[in-house]
Amino acid sequence: MQDTSSHHQSPHILTPEGWHDYQLLDSGHGRKLESVGGYRFIRPEPQAFWAPFLNDQEWQNPAGVFITGSRDQDDGGKWELDPALPDEWVISYEGVKFNAMPTPFRHFGFFPEQSSHWQWCDQLIRTRAATAQTRPNILNLFAYTGVASLHAARAGAEVTHVDSSKKAIAQAFANRDIAQMQDAPIRFITEDVRRFVAREARRGKQYDGIILDPPKYGRGVKGEIWRMEDDILDLLTTIRSILSDQPLFIVLTSYAIRASFLSLHHIMADVMRGKGGMVTSGELAITETRPASTIADFSEPRQIGQANFARWQVIQD
Ligand SMILES: C[S@@+](CC[C@H](N)C(=O)[O-])C[C@H]1O[C@@H](n2cnc3c(N)ncnc32)[C@H](O)[C@@H]1O
Repeated sequence: MQDTSSHHQSPHILTPEGWHDYQLLDSGHGRKLESVGGYRFIRPEPQAFWAPFLNDQEWQNPAGVFITGSRDQDDGGKWELDPALPDEWVISYEGVKFNAMPTPFRHFGFFPEQSSHWQWCDQLIRTRAATAQTRPNILNLFAYTGVASLHAARAGAEVTHVDSSKKAIAQAFANRDIAQMQDAPIRFITEDVRRFVAREARRGKQYDGIILDPPKYGRGVKGEIWRMEDDILDLLTTIRSILSDQPLFIVLTSYAIRASFLSLHHIMADVMRGKGGMVTSGELAITETRPASTIADFSEPRQIGQANFARWQVIQD
């Protein structure tokens, strides 16, 4: 059988394209300045140890600043928000609308760098839907507020969306309504990911594409503990067993572990050995937007890596 080919020599740095409602305006001195639907925010960014590019004035009066005790602190901290800022507001990416909101986890209820995955899955789903004349079956695990589910459904997939948090599922429902996709074939399931995948394997249920963005640490509905380092190998192995005979992809992203993309690359390549196809891996990064007025000064917009990923896909003939 054809082996899985693995190209880890050159990491792929994927940077999102096509955003109007999200911009990384500037970064430096351990912080980043972003625009989310027109509101400006300052968040800690320990990787930005260079100096800001824009003048001080651009950093004044943001709608929110996330304050932490120290620059490197991963957990804790809180938002200081302009009282005029709404609790949530609608933004969109490539025609799919959804809510943005400052969360206690220092993000906005979506991850802009993930749009590289949304576009990639969109292409593969559309091509399959057109050639096979059926809806590919896509499983989105640790699916959170569901923007990937909406994009997959819009591309023509039937989507199963799994998350253990009732609140996250409620937010995903709200996003589906905001996107006016109430009739889209998305099944929302509040369950522990491992429990769900094990059951699907027992029942012989199969999926053409699987997306997962596991946190470092999480809990299932009944308090089941998820630890990335301990549990990812078993989960990926079960995921392999529920891939259909005509699989499209597996997309694995990780923000939370102190490891390079090589770890995700090798676990994906190991688990998919013998299955054919190809693994690519690297970083999801965001790129600073440079105002048009500064283009002549040849300064290179800086990129900031946000997450590691490994993707497995079949090789099209
Ligand atoms: C989107 S992922 C990771 C988010 C972000 N990339 C990060 O690393 O902070 C987080 C989601 O996984 C869900 N989750 C955590 N543990 C889970 C489990 N055992 N089963 C199902 N969902 C789980 C959480 O409810 C949350 O919505």
